[in-house]
Amino acid sequence: MTIVSRPSSVQSLLGGSIELPVHACGHEPAVEVSPWVGRPGTAGTVAVVGAGKMGLPLCAQFADHGWHVVAVDVQQSVVDAINAGRSHVAEEPGLAELIATAHAGGRLRATTDGAAAARDADVVVLIVPVMLDDEQRPDYRYMDAAVASIGEGLHPGSLVIFETTLPVGDTRGRFLPRLAEASGLTPDVDLFVAFSPERLYSGAALRNLATYAKLVGGVGPASTDRAAAFYDAVLDTEIVAMSSAEAAEFSKLADTTYRDVNIALANEFARYAERAGVDVHEVIAAANSQPYSHIHQPGLGVGGHCIPVYPHFLLSRAPELELVDLSRRTNDGQVGVAIKALQQEFGGLAGVPVLVLGLTYRHGVHELAYSRALPLIERLTHQGAVVSAFDPLLTADETARCCATPWTWGEPGPFRAILTQTADPLFSTLDLAWFPALEVLFDGRDSLRDVELPPTVAYRGIGVPPRPRQSFVPDDAARVTA
Ligand SMILES: NC(=O)c1ccc[n+]([C@@H]2O[C@H](COP(=O)([O-])OP(=O)(O)OC[C@H]3O[C@@H](n4cnc5c(N)ncnc54)[C@H](O)[C@@H]3O)[C@@H](O)[C@H]2O)c1
Repeated sequence: MTIVSRPSSVQSLLGGSIELPVHACGHEPAVEVSPWVGRPGTAGTVAVVGAGKMGLPLCAQFADHGWHVVAVDVQQSVVDAINAGRSHVAEEPGLAELIATAHAGGRLRATTDGAAAARDADVVVLIVPVMLDDEQRPDYRYMDAAVASIGEGLHPGSLVIFETTLPVGDTRGRFLPRLAEASGLTPDVDLFVAFSPERLYSGAALRNLATYAKLVGGVGPASTDRAAAFYDAVLDTEIVAMSSAEAAEFSKLADTTYRDVNIALANEFARYAERAGVDVHEVIAAANSQPYSHIHQPGLGVGGHCIPVYPHFLLSRAPELELVDLSRRTNDGQVGVAIKALQQEFGGLAGVPVLVLGLTYRHGVHELAYSRALPLIERLTHQGAVVSAFDPLLTADETARCCATPWTWGEPGPFRAILTQTADPLFSTLDLAWFPALEVLFDGRDSLRDVELPPTVAYRGIGVPPRPRQSFVPDDAARVTA
């Protein structure tokens, strides 16, 4: 698709945009107080329970706004790294510097002792994972343990905020009674409890903290006010006080489920586009130039411990939401689209050496949770393919644990098919001379369409017309038959 003519001053809307402005910090230096009771311009002590990919950027952000931060984690290696002034989260630009500065300034320390941290803190933020069990029901084991660990340390005036995504009703129904019982405090009187969803994107967490609105809903009005005052002190973005914890919980599930349903629609469009002989990416970019159209990108499915998980949180309470269920199944079915395309190319996969590139759920994020690479490898292997794999973020051992033979970048290989599961920019520098037997490139994330392929290699993607290898060009085939 090319733009025919456009005055140079006009910004193109093709493809839509998700870039938002970053808010500059407008806070004066805060006055340290103890206890902290929510007065503007003051800073207290906050404990962050779960110092992982999301928790650690929060520690950095809070310390950078003058708060004393106690990071709590069950992993001793995480605690040791923080206490040495080091970030163990590698993929977050600017995080290492902020952690080093906060630690050197005496505003950040870490411990494995949740109760002691809660005792010292005015605010406790919980950000440990809640995932799914084998039956796709919420698996609370980390959060139950985290809540139990802080209970004894809570004291009059404690504010506890759940940032981990939860099914609707859990802040009040599951966790509030446990916190109240363990502490002997009265909710919304001398124990403040709220839900405030973490909406950050791994790899852009610090930027998103200065961009996205912060939603807050308490178990009562005093809890909402206290939590909103906390975020107003530590964030530079808009703070939105919602009517209840349940409304705030639901807003996160609505936002993420919308994205899953949207991607499922894009995947359905892709299936039809292939049949209609058009490029779905061209169609979507053009459609999204209408400001009310926000169609997402089709691909090999959705991974990570957010988007594929939270629709199930909704379904666990509202199984009647058919569209949500169907979308989940549509997105999970995308692995089958790739397998089918390879089967068409080879007539069967028994004995075919296949290289899968990209094992993490998304490029640039060292996270295998719900990665579509895992069912992809499993199904390829089940079809008889001989699967090797590579991911620039994983070691050979980690790759082997995904049930594929580790391939080393640059090593010649016997592969007849290469299939990309992430859009790592490295893959566009692949030298196809390493693979003399290559017949098919399957571009699972639409990131390699500009790579020049030898005529003997077919290009397949999702929702794009196939580019056959030369020996199968229909004209040639017709000549042979004639
Ligand atoms: N990763 C994302 O992209 C993302 C985006 C938005 C929101 N979130 C939310 O953040 C939550 C956490 O995600 P993450 O990516 O930071 O996870 P993570 O796995 O990177 O980190 C979780 C940390 O919690 C620690 N932990 C586990 N149980 C604990 C306990 N009982 N006490 C103290 N520490 C404990 C772990 O050791 C780990 O360091 C998710 O469940 C989700 O609700 C994540």
